Amino acid sequence: MANILCIGAGYVGGPTMAVIAKHCPQHRIVVVDINEVRIAAWQSDYLPIYEPGLDEIVRCTRNKNLFFSTEVDRHIAEADIIFVSVNTPTKRFGQGAGKAADLQFWEKTARQILEHSTSPKIVVEKSTLPVRTAEAMEYILNSNAHGLHFDVVSNPEFLAEGTAIRDLEQPDRVLIGGRETPSGRRAVQAIVDLYTNWVPKARILTTNLWSSELSKLAANAFLAQRVSSINAISALCEKTGADISEVAHAIGLDKRIGPDFLRASIGFGGSCFKKDIQNLVYLCEYYSLDEVAAYWEQVIKMNEHQQARFVSNIISSMFNTIAGKRIALYGAAFKANTNDTRESPALAVCRALLEEQAEIVISDPHALDNARLDLGDAARRVIFESDPYVAAKEAHAIAILTEWAHFTKLDYEIIYKSMNRPAFIFDGRNILDHKKLHAIGFNMYAIGKSPSTHFSTS
Ligand code: NAD
Ligand code: UGA
Repeated sequence: MANILCIGAGYVGGPTMAVIAKHCPQHRIVVVDINEVRIAAWQSDYLPIYEPGLDEIVRCTRNKNLFFSTEVDRHIAEADIIFVSVNTPTKRFGQGAGKAADLQFWEKTARQILEHSTSPKIVVEKSTLPVRTAEAMEYILNSNAHGLHFDVVSNPEFLAEGTAIRDLEQPDRVLIGGRETPSGRRAVQAIVDLYTNWVPKARILTTNLWSSELSKLAANAFLAQRVSSINAISALCEKTGADISEVAHAIGLDKRIGPDFLRASIGFGGSCFKKDIQNLVYLCEYYSLDEVAAYWEQVIKMNEHQQARFVSNIISSMFNTIAGKRIALYGAAFKANTNDTRESPALAVCRALLEEQAEIVISDPHALDNARLDLGDAARRVIFESDPYVAAKEAHAIAILTEWAHFTKLDYEIIYKSMNRPAFIFDGRNILDHKKLHAIGFNMYAIGKSPSTHFSTS
């Protein structure tokens, strides 16, 4: 039996440890956090994050071999293996502000581990970190006066929110990076052994520390780049009469390109894509690779352009003014099946429409509480309405901002009858049946497609 500790009970720490607990009943797993409210929620019937399949796993493992606690120091002392899954946001001050990773939470954790350890431990980087962070962690941990030895292993997480449980149960790969020393190899093997409880050996890759750290940043950069690439093409579709769904299908059939991650949208969101690319850009600049930095930076610029384009389309289609007009925003989460609104393009669109003095109502099945928090002061000017029918009542327009299946199942005839005319739908996720909605009477605008309106000029 091993005592496994995870520091950080967030979107990664909670689900990851729940799945390890499910597959490793022989081990005792504790997840700690400084956020007492979060830990209380993990101990309750209302988990702090919405993730399909998570409740069932937590119900079966909690208080058997999975425990949640705020007693960080005590559990550090008891642990054999410590996963560190704290947040690593973009630095907002000083050198590297707006690009570099803010490693203050990370370093505090390292020092806390050092202070409360009385036995050697394996420390696993689960958070996404700049390349060579493990080196700093090693320096801090192994600077102790008691002669304790710590092995630092990189095991980046590739789960996506909304599909976290599936991604953890059947990962494409598990990546484990470590030192090529006898104790480094033993540490890597200990983490390999943990995963082999449910992951086929062929899917577990071991590399050196720096390859592991860089692979995580590179994977997110490539994924975000695909979204920006398809969104760039969507802009051209709108000008030329090509249809982005047809283009995505046609190019995705090429095995070398593949069909996934080609959904044109209002842009990528979430806490990681932008932050990890900024981090990559900062690293490139640090190593004087300015052209490489500029190449990746363009992925973010394209994303911002796509959001701005969507807002401009709304304004120009609605006769160049939306002041005082009620607009129902369907979706606040950055993607479907999560309550996470961090860096959500839906909230960016919301803020831009508020600046135009539109009357905004947001509807989302799971993310309204987080949306209210993330919008800060702007939330006072927004109506939060869980019922999409009520949200659309007397609205001039609906904008689909998150691809919840829920929004595809609504009765749009009823919605149309309750709206102001002319009624508009801006489908920022291309999830609705545009022909049917046009036939109902809506003026339909979608990403990367020609609009279908009832105006004589179109
Ligand atoms: P999160 O903000 O949801 O959770 C991090 C938690 O760490 C917070 O609850 C915070 O209170 C806690 N914390 C911070 N400092 C602490 C300390 N000293 N002691 C105890 N707890 C502390 O973040 P997240 O989304 O889970 O992401 C964590 C890391 O994993 C980030 O580096 C992120 O880039 C990476 N990641 C995230 C995802 C994702 O889908 N969210 C996927 C893969 C990787
Ligand atoms: C992403 C990666 O997919 C994970 O592998 C990674 O572990 C994680 O980031 C992380 O490091 O945090 P996540 O952000 O949860 O996961 O969700 P994605 O499915 O990647 O979607 C990201 C954003 O891109 C969402 O806003 C989504 O709506 C958008 N997207 C995605 C599109 O607009 N089009 C697509 O075709 C795919």
